[in-house]
Amino acid sequence: MKELKVLAVVIFFTLVTYWGVEPYAHSVMHKHIEEAKFNNFQYKDLKPVAKGNPANGKTAFAACASCHGLKSQGIKAPMDAVSAASAYGVNPPDLSNAGAVLDEKFIANFILSPTHTALVKKSGMPGGMASKQGAADIAAYLKSIAPKEVKPKEAFEFACGRCHAVHYDKWTQIGQTPKTKSDIKTGVDLAKLDFEKKVGQYQLKLAGYLGKLPPDLSIIVRARSEEYLKKFVENPQHILKGTAMPRVGISKEGYEKVYKYLEEVGDPSKPKREAVGPWVIGFFVIFTFLAFLWYKAQWKGLK
Ligand code: HEC
Ligand code: HEC
Repeated sequence: MKELKVLAVVIFFTLVTYWGVEPYAHSVMHKHIEEAKFNNFQYKDLKPVAKGNPANGKTAFAACASCHGLKSQGIKAPMDAVSAASAYGVNPPDLSNAGAVLDEKFIANFILSPTHTALVKKSGMPGGMASKQGAADIAAYLKSIAPKEVKPKEAFEFACGRCHAVHYDKWTQIGQTPKTKSDIKTGVDLAKLDFEKKVGQYQLKLAGYLGKLPPDLSIIVRARSEEYLKKFVENPQHILKGTAMPRVGISKEGYEKVYKYLEEVGDPSKPKREAVGPWVIGFFVIFTFLAFLWYKAQWKGLK
């Protein structure tokens, strides 16, 4: 009788966990996603833009250079990251790789109306800096000077790196952590402390701008599914309503680069793990063959 009672209790709690807790946990871990709202980084809600003239865009870019650098064309950022964050809340990214990583239509729309295009309430980037044609021209210019191929990390730096740190790769929102040396006698590393202070100052401004400090993305590929990340970046508002993370307008190719980088950092042993697979299968094939030969040898002459 006692055993039956114990059994009943065990069954009761198993069922409560199964129907009461598991579906809830599932809905939290794997949020429901409305497929129709996503179209593989096509940004169909944005208006198509006129064909841009890169030469005119180059001239018009002068207005942008008061905030943005364009290193590949010899234009330096007018301010360091910390001062820029004090002025605008976040460091305006260098735009050398913009045309390679972002969608061209998105760039033109973003110049006309940053908040509306990025789906956020406020932006450090002012709107209405150009006419419709002007915006198309600048977008075409950025596209024309973009390198054909950017590295996964470069794509990340440009599209995400001003807001997200990646500790595993020593990436901070103001750049790569420099290699420094501590004083031999005292162990004090002033250069390191100085850099850390700047990162801290930047992060305070950034958190003020966004309402919170964006999470470190070192192990995000393990914490969230591939599908979730892709959709979140394509349209953060559809996944986390009211979030301060802007829609960055990344292209499909740009996103693939970013994901590759996050995977390399967060799951570095994946290639190794996958490479072991064929060897294991090979081992089983050979082992089965040898076992078969052995079996043959054992039964030889006995049947
Ligand atoms: C007053 C400073 C300022 C000026 C002028 C300015 N920007 Fe920006 N821009 C910003 C800031 C700040 C951001 C980052 C906003 C954020 O991440 O919330 C930004 C972001 C961007 C981005 C990245 C958008 C994304 O989705 O990642 C592009 C592209 C851009 N600006 C293009 C331009 C162009 C082109 C011009 C000239 C027409 C221009 N900006 C003028 C401050 C400025
Ligand atoms: C202008 C700053 C900004 C930029 C640029 C930005 N993010 Fe974010 N991101 C945020 C903020 C703020 C949050 C916190 C969102 C929240 O909790 O509402 C966030 C959160 C996230 C999250 C966590 C989502 C979750 O469910 O926990 C991921 C993943 C992410 N960002 C990826 C990216 C990637 C990838 C890029 C570049 C393609 C990027 N972000 C660019 C500000 C930014």
